[in-house]
Amino acid sequence: MKFFLPCLLLSLGLHHASIITGDSPGDFQFLYLGFLGTNLSMDETATITSNGLLELTNGTLDSKGHAFYPIPLHFRAPNGKVHSFSVTFVFGIRSSYLSMTRQGLAFVVAPNKNFSDALPNQYLGLTNFVKNNSTKNHFFAIELDTVQNVEFKDIDSNHVGIDINGLNSIKSNTAGYYDDISGSFHNLSLNSGNAMQVWVDYSGEAKQINVTIASFQMEKPARSLISTTYDLSPVIQESAYIGFSSSTDEVDSRHYVLGWSFSMNKPAPKIDISKLPKLPRNGQKSRSKLSEIILPIATASFITLVGAVLILLLRRRLRYAELKEDWEVEFGPHRFSYKDLYHATEGFKNKNLLGAGGFGKVYKGVLKASKLEIAVKRVSHESRQGMKEFISEVVSIGHIRHRNLVQLLGYCRRKDELILVYDYMSNGSLDKYLYCVESKLTLNWDKRFWIIKGIASGLLYLHEKWEKVVIHRDIKASNVLLDSGMNGRLGDFGLARLYDHGTDLQTTHAVGTMGYMAPELVCTGKASPLTDVFAFGIFLLEVTCGKRPVNHNTDDDRALLLVDWVLKHWREGSLTETVDSRLRCDYNVDEACLVLKLGLLCSHPFTSERPNMQQVMQYLDRELPLPELTDADMSFDMLSLMQDEGFDPFTLSSTIGTISSISGGR
Ligand SMILES: Nc1ncnc2c1ncn2[C@@H]1O[C@H](COP(=O)(O)OP(=O)(O)OP(=O)(O)O)[C@@H](O)[C@H]1O
Ligand SMILES: *[C@@H]1O[C@H](CO)[C@@H](O)[C@H](O)[C@H]1NC(C)=O
Ligand SMILES: *[C@@H]1O[C@H](CO)[C@@H](O)[C@H](O)[C@H]1NC(C)=O
Ligand SMILES: *[C@@H]1O[C@H](CO)[C@@H](O)[C@H](O)[C@H]1NC(C)=O
Ligand SMILES: *[C@@H]1O[C@H](CO)[C@@H](O)[C@H](O)[C@H]1NC(C)=O
Ligand SMILES: *[C@@H]1O[C@H](CO)[C@@H](O)[C@H](O)[C@H]1NC(C)=O
Ligand SMILES: *[C@@H]1O[C@H](CO)[C@@H](O)[C@H](O)[C@H]1NC(C)=O
Ligand SMILES: *[C@@H]1O[C@H](CO)[C@@H](O)[C@H](O)[C@H]1NC(C)=O
Ligand SMILES: [Mg+2]
Repeated sequence: MKFFLPCLLLSLGLHHASIITGDSPGDFQFLYLGFLGTNLSMDETATITSNGLLELTNGTLDSKGHAFYPIPLHFRAPNGKVHSFSVTFVFGIRSSYLSMTRQGLAFVVAPNKNFSDALPNQYLGLTNFVKNNSTKNHFFAIELDTVQNVEFKDIDSNHVGIDINGLNSIKSNTAGYYDDISGSFHNLSLNSGNAMQVWVDYSGEAKQINVTIASFQMEKPARSLISTTYDLSPVIQESAYIGFSSSTDEVDSRHYVLGWSFSMNKPAPKIDISKLPKLPRNGQKSRSKLSEIILPIATASFITLVGAVLILLLRRRLRYAELKEDWEVEFGPHRFSYKDLYHATEGFKNKNLLGAGGFGKVYKGVLKASKLEIAVKRVSHESRQGMKEFISEVVSIGHIRHRNLVQLLGYCRRKDELILVYDYMSNGSLDKYLYCVESKLTLNWDKRFWIIKGIASGLLYLHEKWEKVVIHRDIKASNVLLDSGMNGRLGDFGLARLYDHGTDLQTTHAVGTMGYMAPELVCTGKASPLTDVFAFGIFLLEVTCGKRPVNHNTDDDRALLLVDWVLKHWREGSLTETVDSRLRCDYNVDEACLVLKLGLLCSHPFTSERPNMQQVMQYLDRELPLPELTDADMSFDMLSLMQDEGFDPFTLSSTIGTISSISGGR
């Protein structure tokens, strides 16, 4: 007999397979430990997986797959008898549904590899209903069946059977093994998903077929599962192929062969199970099957979650969004995070609103970390112009510390918004005390005089004592705040400056509060220490008289402006009549007259007549006597002067407008 196989096989360069050939042609054998790089003849769904498993079926429903040793083997001895042969293989059945695999696989010896007309399903890809028991089939198979088909008289749904030409097994048994020691039978579930080893031995002499099966890590049990006498000589042809056949039905199953050995006339080489490729995890596909329900839900929930988180983050970002520019880095320590301010003021709640002025709203807050009480002023600004200068000014002003100035703690910037953080003044602003109806809040003269001296000292510091000249630009009762010790503190300094920028040549914007603005400020828009002195003078009159600088609800037209009204009384020698009636004559007349005269002097329309803050301090401390006011000096009427400057107080809001833009005709 010609045995051309060995040399051919050696040239295959098999990766995991080792081909051992004996000297005698009848001693052919092979061993596959995994199938990577092998030259099996496969059809339909059969394939070699990337890790070297022979996958007969791939989960496709109602499919079949075959894998054959590529060349036919010569099965007969010269006397025509079929050789003894021995086969060992390791298989595993896996499924998407845990232990729900269906149909099995078979080892087969057949005259050809063409099983194209065989059926899947219960036919295991071996035959069809016409050919099912035909002697012309010439096949011998060992079926590992997981379905009980009554038509083939299957004994159960988990059996091993010897098939000749058809699926009606000549002998079968429930899958399992006999324990070597106890001799008792142990069931093996073919579709457990675990790998199992099968030994098929045929003795040509004894015409005996032994089939043994055990779990894959076990040694071959001594007692076979099935042992039967059957002469294969009429069945197996001289030249026959050996291989595997498998099929699926409506349940997707995957049939794998992990290793395979064959030997003619000798026991098959032992399979070293440690060298076999691993089966895919059971129910691997089940994930994808489960995923058909769970994954979409999980994905949807995940996407929803991510979306929600993103929206939250975005909202958070937007809520706490700030504007930060490179040049601000140097002001770092003075910068507050919007988030901190947001939390400090409980989200800028109305209940924390302290008041609103021309620049924006002021909220009370408590800083989480330091428990420090703060006043947060939100100033809207549209143009970024001059912002850098302003911020640097704010920051430098932040360095100013004086007991009569409200400490600026820092700032924060957002789009279109500047937020300033100040020390909180527990007693609020002075205007509340001057104009309140409740008499118990009325400040007595000593307190008023104390506050006046404090504010003078604060302003003096801004004008002369600090490293730079700082012009307040908005001195008025509402910007005088009272701390817990009822000390007057000047707030909001420099803020008006924010609105000073962007001044063009066509118009002059005067910034300040009506009634406190010096005539030359209205005219030129240029603030100077002396415009502050003017406002301070008005403030002195305001505090002493308890009257607003502009009084619309008075019968006397000439009393529209507080200065004119006090001036009138001065000329008439009845200055004390202007003192706040709420003081009920309980005041130091000298001090009150001094303050009133100083007020008139400070709010003199001519800058040359006004004292500077140094002198103001000295007059108040009586270190210098106040110069006597002469009729000549005081022969002015503020209202007409102002009207000469093109200023009409009636056209402007009577409620003290904080910022007034006046077009000076230039
Ligand atoms: N640091 C502070 N501590 C306590 N209360 C303050 C503080 N700053 C401002 N306030 C309160 O908030 C109110 C509004 O202040 P805001 O400065 O916005 O307005 P204004 O002083 O009336 O006008 P302007 O905008 O010209 O300063 C003030 O009247 C005062 O009662
Ligand atoms: C199974 O094999 C068939 C035939 O090769 C192929 O058409 C099909 O796509 C495969 N299915 C899977 C899930 O791999
Ligand atoms: C595989 O075996 C077939 C014979 O069935 C042969 O024709 C083919 O050349 C072999 N391929 C390789 C790569 O050895
Ligand atoms: C396989 O057999 C069928 C008939 O049973 C035939 O039509 C087909 O051509 C054969 N295929 C091969 C590759 O020989
Ligand atoms: C199968 O065919 C053989 C003869 O070839 C016969 O003896 C046997 O009874 C048949 N079995 C069935 C189940 O049809
Ligand atoms: C094959 O099986 C079918 C039933 O599935 C039966 O009708 C038919 O007669 C059988 N053929 C042979 C040759 O036994
Ligand atoms: C083995 O399986 C058979 C059939 O499924 C069953 O009747 C028997 O009880 C099982 N035996 C054991 C020990 O599990
Ligand atoms: C089959 O098994 C029996 C006993 O279990 C043994 O005597 C016989 O030699 C075996 N035959 C083959 C071919 O292994
Ligand atoms: Mg203010």
